[in-house]
Amino acid sequence: DSLKEAFKNDFTIGTALNSAQIEERNPTVNNLIIQQFNVATPENVMKSALLQPKWGIYDFKMADKLIEYGNKHNIKINGHTLIWHSQLPGFMRRMQSTDSVKTFFNDHIKTVAGHYKGKVFSWDVVNEALNEDGTLRNSIFLQKLGEGYIAEAFRLTQEASPDTELYYNDYNNEQPAKRAGCIKLIKKIQESGARIDGVGIQGHWHLGKIPLKDIEESILAYSALGIKVMITELDIEILPRNFQGADVSQRLANTTESNPYPNGLPDSIQKQLADDYEALFKLFLKHKDKIARVTFWGVNDGDSWLNNWPIRGRTNYPLLFDRNNEPKPAYFKVIGLK
Ligand code: XIL
Repeated sequence: DSLKEAFKNDFTIGTALNSAQIEERNPTVNNLIIQQFNVATPENVMKSALLQPKWGIYDFKMADKLIEYGNKHNIKINGHTLIWHSQLPGFMRRMQSTDSVKTFFNDHIKTVAGHYKGKVFSWDVVNEALNEDGTLRNSIFLQKLGEGYIAEAFRLTQEASPDTELYYNDYNNEQPAKRAGCIKLIKKIQESGARIDGVGIQGHWHLGKIPLKDIEESILAYSALGIKVMITELDIEILPRNFQGADVSQRLANTTESNPYPNGLPDSIQKQLADDYEALFKLFLKHKDKIARVTFWGVNDGDSWLNNWPIRGRTNYPLLFDRNNEPKPAYFKVIGLK
């Protein structure tokens, strides 16, 4: 029994992958990946800071390994991501002139999308270009290139890699204001004549607070634009978020806050997590004709970025597999839907 088998007639099932997980010296996690998932998104190795560490100098080694791994194990790769304001190379963050930004933008897309032509199934062409109110984020790309940069990124990617699916990806874009901005953004791409094949709702949600109604309305609204809908970075944060705005060192000193459950997850939380995941997958199944893929942001709790975000050194439990790669109650609830 596995996720990819259970949902094979509904949508593909993905995970984020990092370089350590795919090494042969980690057989347990490797077996789990191969057994459970049929698509993967590189968690970091295809971000611009890693692919183009110095201006004009590309390093494809780690990302190529992931492609090889995917080929070997029948796991399609979703490239992540070409144009994003975060994890940019240092030289790029310091750029002043419009010409330099334009050169970086054109060359990075052409070179990277060209290198992975026919090798990635899809690209998150642009990531997180919106503010919470639906306006465009004031990134270096918006500042120097104007709002047309988004459609232009899609046009350039399509030119470099014509058979690859092209997506826009963001978080909180199931929330009404941001969703409205996202719909506007997608329509602009379509009106420009460039192709967009799908939209990713990242799906970084919180225990007991899954916005099911907003998610359902978003699935319907996005799919009405004629594109695929995907859940691209699914995890459920279980730790309290009430430390927002506090001083970092203070937060780190508070061990109860970084790990309120030193003896493992209490049953009540384990159950709430299972219920939340079950409700989500029920909704995804209800709209399986509109949802192309559901990707978890990590394989097991130990690998999750939420152990280190928004602060380092937390112990989090957001996924379906625990730190020993064992399925949690949430896994059985999700599989039980089939
Ligand atoms: C995260 C990775 O998981 C971390 O390892 C890294 O330190 C920061 O980025 N939205 C995205 C992802 O689109 O690329 C981010 O991934 C999580 C939020």
